[in-house]
Amino acid sequence: MLGNFTFSNPTKLYFGPDALQNLKAELEKYGPTVMLVYGGGSIKKNGIYDQVKKVLGDCGKKVIEDGGVMPNPSLEKLYDGIEKARAAGNVDFILAVGGGSVIDYSKGLSASIHCKEDPWKKYYVRQEEPDCPVVPVGSVLTMVGTGSEMNGGSVITNTAETMKIGKVFGEKLYPKFAILNPNFTLTLPHNQMVAGCFDIMSHIMEQYFSGKDDNTSDYLSEGLMRSLIHSSRIANKDPNNYEARSNIMWTATWALNTLLGMGKNGGDWEVHMIGHAVGAYTHATHGMTLSAVSLPYYRFVMEAGLPKFKRFAETVWEVDPKGKNDKEVAEEGLKKMGEWMKELGLAMNIKDLGAKPEMFEGIAKATIILKGGYKVLTQEDVIKILQAAYE
Ligand code: NZQ
Ligand code: ZN
Repeated sequence: MLGNFTFSNPTKLYFGPDALQNLKAELEKYGPTVMLVYGGGSIKKNGIYDQVKKVLGDCGKKVIEDGGVMPNPSLEKLYDGIEKARAAGNVDFILAVGGGSVIDYSKGLSASIHCKEDPWKKYYVRQEEPDCPVVPVGSVLTMVGTGSEMNGGSVITNTAETMKIGKVFGEKLYPKFAILNPNFTLTLPHNQMVAGCFDIMSHIMEQYFSGKDDNTSDYLSEGLMRSLIHSSRIANKDPNNYEARSNIMWTATWALNTLLGMGKNGGDWEVHMIGHAVGAYTHATHGMTLSAVSLPYYRFVMEAGLPKFKRFAETVWEVDPKGKNDKEVAEEGLKKMGEWMKELGLAMNIKDLGAKPEMFEGIAKATIILKGGYKVLTQEDVIKILQAAYE
């Protein structure tokens, strides 16, 4: 049953091959100084940097460059960016050109430039909202998966403390606009493309595997998962297939722009909590940390949420229930998911990501335990899941 909720998403999306044409009009709404944030250089190789710089030049903007945002952006990098922005005087706008790491970092920067407190403690540890002015952020998306282009999420890794924590900021920190040109994603390496696909799948599953009520969100989720599985199979064999890549890009945005979470009381998100802790220890690609722990986690909690796992098997994986009990149907669904994951070439265990048994206790301690799924884990349960994910 749907209870009380408020749905509002202020991000304006421009989608398609001509989407960048809208950047100029958007930038003209803001003051003259733009901080241009990007990653390790892919945008310089594929020409997106030149296209964006031309628009910034046409708008007469003063540009402060802040490149080198690494995948899983670090707190140290955030501190450097804050110093750079403050040294520049007034920054009117932050333009994030990249994937989830660049956009997440830009949101952290936006909330921190005028903040007198330590951003790690205030936003990520204490989960507070900014009480200082924030700098508006806009994005040009180059990597598909996180949904950061249309949400308030910002995940930062504190390497000194081996902690990776996400803060979901309120509307003020949502990108003002997001430019989504599927062609900009075609230069992604195969492993990043498939990691992004699994990240999308995981975002949907985290919201789907919670609650026992009849909820429109679950029907939306099933449709999105079917579309993703279909398109990812095509893109896996033919990465330049625009139709498949554009569908994946659109699905990613809808998987985590808060729509699916409506009426779901927060969802599960335990796979992400374990994945983030594995990421803090291994620095592995986000989507791969999720793929490596998902099947062991879902097998561990399946019986507590059996009706939903059975529905997942039948609706998403087209398992025929004839002659099988509920558990067998549910297990077959997870088996089919595993086959799809192997077909894409996803990480199927944490050993391949560099995790070692001596890290398990630390990873379990770094795993935030949430209560919205079908089974509330203990730290010992997390260790059991890590052990299963290691084999
Ligand atoms: O740094 P560059 O050189 O740009 O290379 C990047 C990076 O190495 C490369 N790349 C991006 N676009 C490319 C490209 N290479 C070639 N062509 C292109 N068009 O891809 C690599 C990965 O990029 P990254 O931004 O790190 O990936 P992703 O979008 O998966 O972001 C991961 C981060 O987002 C967080 C993750 O935890 C992780 O820190 N998340 C954010 C969420 C949110 N905001 O709501 C939710 C997610 O669950 C997730 O936790
Ligand atoms: Zn994710």
